[in-house]
This record gives sequence, C-alpha cells and structure tokens, in this order.
Amino acid sequence: MDLFDIKIYGDDVLRKKCKPVEKLTPELVEIAKQMLETMYDAPGVGLAAPQVGLDIQLVVIDVTHPDDDERCPYIMFNPEWKEEEDSEPVEFEEGCLSVPDIFCNVTRPGKVSVRYMDEHGEQKELRNCEGLLARCIQHEIDHLNGVLFVDKISQSDRMLYQSKLRKMAKTQG
Ligand code: NI
Repeated sequence: MDLFDIKIYGDDVLRKKCKPVEKLTPELVEIAKQMLETMYDAPGVGLAAPQVGLDIQLVVIDVTHPDDDERCPYIMFNPEWKEEEDSEPVEFEEGCLSVPDIFCNVTRPGKVSVRYMDEHGEQKELRNCEGLLARCIQHEIDHLNGVLFVDKISQSDRMLYQSKLRKMAKTQG
C-alpha cells in the first residue's frame, strides 16, 4: 500500500476548515486505511486528513503500542468530542507529525466522549475516554478545524520555538 506524504507546518492545508463527509464511499475507506498505514510507518498515534493534504473530516487513531498483542485502530469520519462531566484538566506533552521535533505541554480536558461514523458507515460513540486516547481525539479533531497544538502552548514555549517554527514554515510552498 502506498503511503501518503505528511504535510508540514506552514502548508496552507493544515489551516483549512475541513468539510464533513456526506456519503461514505469505498475510496474514502481506502484513504482512511492508507492514512493508518502512513501513521504506523511514521510512527504516530493519530493522523488527520489535512496532514495528508485532504480537507475532509476524517481522523485515524491507534494509541496502542506496536509490541501490544492487539492493536486498536479507529477510523473516524465527522468526529465530534464532548467533555465528560467528571473530567479534570490535564497537562501533557504533545507532538505532531506535521510539526516535527517540537514537543510541548498542552492542557486539555482529561475525560471526553466522541461520536463519529466508522468505516462501515455506522454511527459510533466512545464514552469516558481518558489518557492518551482522550488527548489524541482532541488533538486530531483540532486538525479538522485548522488548529495545531502549537497554537495552544504557553507564551514561554512559544518564544522558545518561534524561530524554529518560522524556519519550518519557510521551507513550505
Ligand atoms: Ni497533529
């Protein structure tokens, strides 16, 4: 299976608001599977469609480890997340395949639910997602709104990485 090229910070597609998927097609399922392969190859735990140049509401996630007995890939079309009532804010270090070599703490809700359409066209809901999964769901869905984790880092981290980000953006068309 061919892998996608991953778009890097500074590419306009990463700032686009993605369109909802009205109708699931075999082509879209194929794209999702290709995104999963691209994510495993990188390696990463999540990938959103704009990161491979597509402005559609599609993310793929697998927070299991390659050495785990079973992997647990999720393909999510039109995903929407909500904070659970007993959620607390959590600070956690994030990175992004589109923003290489930068890792910063971001504070986000610790417990969320997510609704989406899966690769069979079925409406699904995952409740009480925590830890890396909760983190990843929010990070990937941000991508669908043109938001990157570096938009949410502290002022001091922003100062620290400003020139690195500028240089990264300059290398993009
Ligand atoms: Ni990302």
